[in-house]
Amino acid sequence: MRRPKITVVGAGNVGGTAAQRLAEGNCYDVVLVDIVEGVPQGKALDLAQAGPVLGYDSQVVGANDYAETAGSAVVIITSGVPRKPGMSRDELLAINARIVQGVVREVAARSPDAVLIMVTNPLDVMVHVAQKVSGFPKGRVLGMAGVLDSARLRAFIAAELQVSVADVHAMVLGGHGDSMVPVLRYTTVAGRPLGEWLPKERLDALIRRTRDGGAEIVNLLKTGSAYYAPSASVVEMVEAILKDQKRILPCATRCDGEYGLKDVVVGVPVKLGSGGAEQIIEYDLTKEERTALMQSAQAVKELCATVERMLER
Ligand code: APR
Repeated sequence: MRRPKITVVGAGNVGGTAAQRLAEGNCYDVVLVDIVEGVPQGKALDLAQAGPVLGYDSQVVGANDYAETAGSAVVIITSGVPRKPGMSRDELLAINARIVQGVVREVAARSPDAVLIMVTNPLDVMVHVAQKVSGFPKGRVLGMAGVLDSARLRAFIAAELQVSVADVHAMVLGGHGDSMVPVLRYTTVAGRPLGEWLPKERLDALIRRTRDGGAEIVNLLKTGSAYYAPSASVVEMVEAILKDQKRILPCATRCDGEYGLKDVVVGVPVKLGSGGAEQIIEYDLTKEERTALMQSAQAVKELCATVERMLER
């Protein structure tokens, strides 16, 4: 049986776990690509051998080149390096931008109809780079950040109120991490706005913890960063696209006039279907939320200008 093909570039923690989740779903074939020889092949074999136990027939192959990726419906890009001690943010930006530039050239040439989902940080800037390099329509180049930030906030709210996560809806917009913009009027528990459930100081504490959610995990793990929730979040986006679910999820995408933002990548609610981001949904934001979104977008714009100068060199 032929299944839609999904390429995952970067067979590290996020990529490997995403490949596992996709294979276990039994709906897709997976190509895992990494620059390190043996790692994608080894992980792919291991995943294929889990199939008989778990009952999936998804094909999983590993490779160091891109031949097998041809005709992918979705390409998830997690390849990059983490920030090392002594490395500046700009240095990290330059290294990951070059990696993403090279990877996107390879995958875009072989899968011209794919939807690209970026995971590599700094996320919003990598979406910008991927869109420029691929030349794909903006709706087919997305970044995974808002789903993860919203999931973190939902988990904290559910634990605080002792309710099921299924009844907690959250919408986190803006940049990933520091510059995220939670829109609290649209964050609800069983349809009731969060402000009616929690006093302001508790609410602020949960938002602060969400904002620092990635760092909290990095500090605990000591080596590496979060990957269970990031891989689950990216798979939710894949499902929405390939099953044409028309889910409304916060994703990093280019705004061209929406929210008063021009030609900048930022996290906004989008309708996800077979065409990728089929529509940006415009929420009515408060003055503070709008200002925060503008600031977030401005920070991304500045980083994008820096990265473009770096890539020209
Ligand atoms: N081509 C293919 N793979 C590459 C390349 C490249 N040019 N450069 C690096 N990689 C691979 C690494 O060999 C590694 O296996 O990308 C993988 C990254 O995996 P991890 O270091 O385990 O990082 P992970 O935790 O999976 O996070 C992935 O998501 O959180 C973001 O920016 C963060 O870069 C990180 C990415």
